[in-house]
Amino acid sequence: MKITIDTTKCSGHARCAAAAPEMFELDDSGYALPYAGEVPAGHEDDAREGVLACPERAITFE
Ligand code: F3S
Repeated sequence: MKITIDTTKCSGHARCAAAAPEMFELDDSGYALPYAGEVPAGHEDDAREGVLACPERAITFE
């Protein structure tokens, strides 16, 4: 499973980090830090929750 954060779509809602703090990090202004790559084993459900939590659809997974 891979996720990608499109930081150009991020509006700083911070719901991704609230849903899965071990998967999503925010910068000092509350915007998601870039991430693109494999989700570590055992974090698939967390990643999925973070993806679904983003109202801007800035995070995608495959
Ligand atoms: Fe940004 Fe969406 Fe997270 S707007 S901070 S990627 S919930």
